[in-house]
Amino acid sequence: MDQTLHDFLDQLAQFGKTNDRQATQRRERMLNITPDTGPFLAILIKATKAKAVLEIGTSNGYSTIWLADAVRTTGGHVTTIEMDPWKAEQARLNFQKASVDVVITQILALAEAYLPACSPASLDFIFLDSERSQYTGWLYQLLSLLRPGGLLVVDNAVSHEAELAEFTSLVQQIPGLDSSLVPVGNGELLLWKHA
Ligand SMILES: C[S@@+](CC[C@H](N)C(=O)[O-])C[C@H]1O[C@@H](n2cnc3c(N)ncnc32)[C@H](O)[C@@H]1O
Repeated sequence: MDQTLHDFLDQLAQFGKTNDRQATQRRERMLNITPDTGPFLAILIKATKAKAVLEIGTSNGYSTIWLADAVRTTGGHVTTIEMDPWKAEQARLNFQKASVDVVITQILALAEAYLPACSPASLDFIFLDSERSQYTGWLYQLLSLLRPGGLLVVDNAVSHEAELAEFTSLVQQIPGLDSSLVPVGNGELLLWKHA
């Protein structure tokens, strides 16, 4: 990653922290991934040569910029879904400032409304960082969108372990999936769909 982009991401991380401390309403919070989660996701994308990347939960685009910089290496593209127009607009401006807008498609929608339009087995990598109470309901659909050999990465698997208990228990019952909980940032649950 070039130094200018690195500096911009540092600024954005700082903005997110300050903003979230001052915000009085949950929807005003950016709730960005931690700065050490960004390089972790980027390495996963580059190491697996993932091209078709989907993110659920853009917020102001901090994590998306990490994903976008990684797909520049693989020749891929990131589609990112956000339901809140105010956050999506901040993300749009951040993607332009970071000069990564050409490898990103923003979808302003509820994920549950958008996912049915996606083609089965079309995605190499999904990053799930959204409304956790919906993950159990989305799991089979997300797995059907992932190509065999693709990765689904779920944020907050340690920080919100109790909230994700039903989801992780369902994961363990599904054949054809390998899982690993990685204690980076807020805890990343990696689900690999058998090739
Ligand atoms: C934790 S934040 C995402 C943070 C972002 N990934 C980052 O690290 O910079 C979760 C986001 O998901 C959005 N969201 C929640 N439920 C959603 C849904 N059903 N469809 C689309 N977006 C949703 C929220 O508006 C919020 O901006």
